Amino acid sequence: MAADSKKRILTGVRPTGALHLGHYVGALHNWLELQDQYDCYFLIADYQALGDHFHEIDLIRDSVLQVTLDWLAVGLDPEKSAFVVQSYVPEHAELTMLLSFITPLGMLERNPTLKAEIGELPVERRTVGFFNYPMSQVADILLPRAHLVPVGDDQAPHIEMTREIARRFNRMFGEVFPEPETLIGRVPRLSGTDGQGKMSKSKGNVILLSDDEATVNKKVRGMFTDPNRVRADIPGRVEGNPVFEYHDAFNPDTAQVDDFKERYRKGTVGDVEVKVALAKALNDHLEPIRERRARYEQQMDLVEEAIMAGVRKGREIAEETMTMVRDAMRISTYTKSWN
Ligand code: TRP
Repeated sequence: MAADSKKRILTGVRPTGALHLGHYVGALHNWLELQDQYDCYFLIADYQALGDHFHEIDLIRDSVLQVTLDWLAVGLDPEKSAFVVQSYVPEHAELTMLLSFITPLGMLERNPTLKAEIGELPVERRTVGFFNYPMSQVADILLPRAHLVPVGDDQAPHIEMTREIARRFNRMFGEVFPEPETLIGRVPRLSGTDGQGKMSKSKGNVILLSDDEATVNKKVRGMFTDPNRVRADIPGRVEGNPVFEYHDAFNPDTAQVDDFKERYRKGTVGDVEVKVALAKALNDHLEPIRERRARYEQQMDLVEEAIMAGVRKGREIAEETMTMVRDAMRISTYTKSWN
């Protein structure tokens, strides 16, 4: 397919820390395949990160770089895909504002993901900007006129809202936006090392893509398993046990994994043996990623170039879309010469 006839993908992440195994199985692994078939825009959503981290701007700044390094390290290719830093393309802000005028308040009030997240925020951090972040995510997706959005299921309400806004805009002002489809990844989400819900930096239960071998070994040694199994000869539970969940996700030796499961259920294998094998599988998986990351850390000019090339491509399509939007809405089109 010619480059310009490929369907466009937009997806993104909030830069609030280095990426972890949960990001890998839930997103990056999938994106690696997509980048060969589609015209991909990968967004580092630093405006959106302000929503719950405006008190930690340094963290956001540093994380933009960490995320870029992680993306390069897993093999996302800036020659194939655009790495776009949201705040370098201020059209995101313009489109967010314009779309907010055709968006009923109820759409945000009813958004289940937003509701849950706001409920967890302390009152002093519940800002208008945070409340409006799904709106800005709608703009993220519509700005490159994306056809497909690969995300986890928690993001589905935002994509549904995007479809509604695209329809509404097109109906009111004329056809500008495709109605984007959601692409839900194969592996939904990975539990944290503590077995208490999903892997998430704020819970301190993550294994980072950039963790070194010793750190991975230590984190795996301390992983939550079946709490009732105080001795190796007690039959254990495999289901819901994060050690086995990770084996399933990362250990290519399925015969070994099946054997462990069988013996674990019977009480004929110790946690240590299972964990040592898991740590090895994870380290085997992470080693090439670490190596590539280290190489890029030595060549920060390449990292910067990746960002700038992505931003250029992001701005190009953003300007094109905004011209279409302003024309359709007949806003900032009073004279030909002002722009
Ligand atoms: N909300 C997403 C997250 O927290 C990040 C994101 C920002 C995004 N803009 C997007 C995802 C647009 C998909 C499309 O991970």
